[in-house]
Amino acid sequence: MDKKFYITTPIYYVNMNPHLGTAYPTVAADVLARHHRAKGEQVFFLTGTDEHGAKIVEAATKNRKTPKEFVDEIAAKYQLLWDELQISNDNFIRTTDPQHEKIAAAIAQRLYDKGFIYKGTYSGLYCVGCERYYTEKELVDGKCPYHQTAPTQLSEDCYFFKLSGFQEPLMKLIDQGDWVIEPKERRNEVLGFLKTEKLEDLAISRVRAKMNWGITLPWDKNQVLYVWVDALLNYLTGLKWDGDFNKLSELWPPDAQLLGKDILRFHAVIWPAMLLALEIPLPKKLFITGFFTINGQKMSKSLGNVIDPNEVIRIFGSDAARYLLLSLFPFGQDGDVSMEKFYDKYSANLASGLGNLVSRVITLALKQETIYEFSENNEFRVKITATWATYEKAMDNLAFEQALIAIQDLASFCDKYIEINKPWQLVKTNLDLFKKVMYNLLESLRHLAWLTSPFMPEISEKILAALGLFTENKKDLSLVKDWGAVNHYQVKSVKPLFPRLTRD
Ligand code: MSP
Repeated sequence: MDKKFYITTPIYYVNMNPHLGTAYPTVAADVLARHHRAKGEQVFFLTGTDEHGAKIVEAATKNRKTPKEFVDEIAAKYQLLWDELQISNDNFIRTTDPQHEKIAAAIAQRLYDKGFIYKGTYSGLYCVGCERYYTEKELVDGKCPYHQTAPTQLSEDCYFFKLSGFQEPLMKLIDQGDWVIEPKERRNEVLGFLKTEKLEDLAISRVRAKMNWGITLPWDKNQVLYVWVDALLNYLTGLKWDGDFNKLSELWPPDAQLLGKDILRFHAVIWPAMLLALEIPLPKKLFITGFFTINGQKMSKSLGNVIDPNEVIRIFGSDAARYLLLSLFPFGQDGDVSMEKFYDKYSANLASGLGNLVSRVITLALKQETIYEFSENNEFRVKITATWATYEKAMDNLAFEQALIAIQDLASFCDKYIEINKPWQLVKTNLDLFKKVMYNLLESLRHLAWLTSPFMPEISEKILAALGLFTENKKDLSLVKDWGAVNHYQVKSVKPLFPRLTRD
């Protein structure tokens, strides 16, 4: 089998429409998925929606819909948005899919049969927004730190998962580097938490009479599986795995799981504990993404300070929207976003940067009706090799903004080369040299097309088409990365890739 790459995003709550913050991890995962596909790997990219639980019931009731009507509507909006953003997921898992419900119930049963689940009563403060219990200590002024609302006091019979037994094994796994959490600060946060706070057993069900929107526990029909356990299991069920514990999917385990820091503990503690209990290998890497903030505050549905991704796509186009999401600040850190910043970045890096370079080079090349043939140029060979090396290292580290800087840097290098060599004069004075200069620029555009392709797939195709290349030839990155891999060009005219915009 080819090298495999299984990547996941969190599954999104369908209590409200998607916003730019929720589009962020999905676009990032898509870029990675496309990059690994270009390397010839067998990629499986999973995303989807988290559709059970009190939060959804609340939202549906507010909208005077049944939960099922409501989740169908919002899940469709997510799928539509992912289409608009050219998300290349291999499956879209919905936790209301009968197949997910069936396998998730079977997994819960397995945990029960193995003795990891027992019956008890839970009394505590529950935040419906987070779908979790809080201790008094974790609240800020008596309110949930994420939703700024007071949690509800709940007291009910439920089943518990023996999470407390996993404190030591998890610490050990993190310490030894077998349970990888990136960036480092997030790993340290989890380790710090495990070292200083005692893990309590986890309430993993709710009384059906009180919360009637979820997966029924197979061994007790009066209880519904806790929405977070239900949701985490999507990473297993989304592989279309049939639930045979003797034969896991060939794609298991995930190679990279992306998620925000607000859901770190679910993924870094509860999730691996469940897998250890099930004796299923752990994911290879969790990568914790930062937040989009607006004036320093997390962009969130509950705070209402959201940017509509459809609006960003409408103004800048789908490819540029993807670029803008990943270029503003380092992946893994928080960053303030605004339409103003998007306009500035679009204008500087895309309209005046890459877009202008492509138009300029193609216009110059069209000055002669000729085929531009390969001639060796060591300066370009060195530059291109170095660019790919920086880019690939950045992609391996999920440092998308660094990969984009490498692209920007190559475009600037070409701009400077044009200024120095003045091909518009050479075409009149030294045709031979003109052709050599143009080959270097055209070959560089080809590399730029390949480098940008995971980020801006349509733009990449347009550049390749202007270079007269058939995009079906897109095969394995290793075949296209060399300087001179295409040894002649006959170009075609191209419309501006990033039209200049006036601000709304
Ligand atoms: N349903 C759970 C996840 C279950 S995964 C087994 C959930 N859903 S969510 O819709 O609230 O959030 C999904 C992801 O979007 C999280 O990783 C969250 O951090 C991310 N984001 C939500 N708002 C965001 C920003 N403002 N900025 C960046 N990411 C944001 O949690």
